[in-house]
Amino acid sequence: MADSIQLSLDGKTYQYPLVTGTEHERGIDISRLRSDTGLITLDPGYGNTGSCQSAITYIDGDKGILRYRGIPIEEFANHPNFIEVAWLLIFGRLPNKAEKDRFSDRLTGNAHLHEAMKHTFEGFPITAPPMAITSAMINTLGCFHSELYSLNDEVLLEEAAARLISKIRTIAAFTYRRVNGLPYIYADPKLRYCANFLHMMFSMPYQQHLVDQEIEDALNLIFILHADHEQNCSTSTVRMVGSSKANLFASCAAGVCALWGPLHGGANVEVLDMLEKIHAGGMTAEKYIELSKKKDNNIRLMGFGHRVYKNYDPRAKMLQSVCERVLKKLNVKDPLLDIARKLEELALKDEYFVARKLYPNVDFYSGMIMRAMGIPTNMFTVLFAIGRLPGWIAHWKEQHDDPASKIARPRQIYTGPVDRHYVPLDQR
Ligand code: SDX
Repeated sequence: MADSIQLSLDGKTYQYPLVTGTEHERGIDISRLRSDTGLITLDPGYGNTGSCQSAITYIDGDKGILRYRGIPIEEFANHPNFIEVAWLLIFGRLPNKAEKDRFSDRLTGNAHLHEAMKHTFEGFPITAPPMAITSAMINTLGCFHSELYSLNDEVLLEEAAARLISKIRTIAAFTYRRVNGLPYIYADPKLRYCANFLHMMFSMPYQQHLVDQEIEDALNLIFILHADHEQNCSTSTVRMVGSSKANLFASCAAGVCALWGPLHGGANVEVLDMLEKIHAGGMTAEKYIELSKKKDNNIRLMGFGHRVYKNYDPRAKMLQSVCERVLKKLNVKDPLLDIARKLEELALKDEYFVARKLYPNVDFYSGMIMRAMGIPTNMFTVLFAIGRLPGWIAHWKEQHDDPASKIARPRQIYTGPVDRHYVPLDQR
């Protein structure tokens, strides 16, 4: 198989090496293209452009494969432990007992926020979008932990990862409590990560919110399935910001902002809005499918389609069975689930979706599970951010540890006016 590629331009020939990954993907190393030829590449949305080489997550979009550090996500279904997966993504392997105990202790010991941060929560209007609060509070967190602005060794990084992963959960819960005028509930050191989050979200001073093991396992799996997804929009944002040597807090706060978009992590909210609209009698599932096929309607079948998966998103498959289990466990009869199943059944046999290889993605079922758990819709993407945080930290670290990494600075093709001059105000 060739190990390089030739480019001919104006009678000259140039040779560029091919880079081959461990899963035999190949890319053209064009780092010398502009200095050789004066040319740049143009690839809006970067659908054909690799930004880096990474050892963290592998996706095969055609086969619907997703592996974290080589482990297929399906293998976490029977051992749903989000904190183990966080360690795996960040440090490259599953933690041994000593590491797992040490990391768990760090998470338990970092579940609180500096008391002064409560005043920051109070500064937000109760109408503030939770994603806006979450992003702002991650940067605020950095102000109280500025000793972790530079992370030059693994111990410091482990501490920073533990503080961020533990405290984003508290930030999310306090955000929910703030916008709903509820008293802040502090973490309970006897509870594990996910049960503690639901405790801080839903307990009251006079009544503890107790979590069934099956629900705790389901939330672990939701966070695990959201934990990383190679160079998605928000992770690429974290890498872009981190490439300027910005600190981990600033980089992750930027990741939250990218994730907020309705085409990305915000889609789980859009899916529920779509299902509610159909349920409210606005239209039938059949009608919605027809509308989503015509571009001018500016309506998409939310939770369907993916830049990389041209097959069923393996996470959607797993979340579909989690959804059935959780609704059954909680004895929830959600009419929206029937509508979701109907939309999926119609789309999977509709030529428009089949021809474009549009299948359910991670967002199609996740919202219904969270809704059954009592999570309000406007918090769905915040939970996506809690899940995605270890992936952001892992990618930030991988880039930070790479001596060859440079500040990200893409080029452009200029299409603006040429050769204009300043016109004094009285002549305009
Ligand atoms: C996530 O990148 C990641 O890994 C993301 C993520 C992660 O874990 O980080 O997996 C999380 O963001 C999942 C995706 C969540 N978003 C949605 O569910 C929103 C709905 N889906 C789409 O908007 C769309 O499918 C994207 C944004 C997900 C992907 O868009 P692409 O790859 O840029 O594809 P495209 O917009 O160019 O669409 C190709 C064609 C177009 O039609 P034609 O021009 O060929 O006629 O497919 C159509 C699109 O109109 N299309 C859809 C559609 N998605 C694509 N038509 C109707 N409904 C849809 N959902």
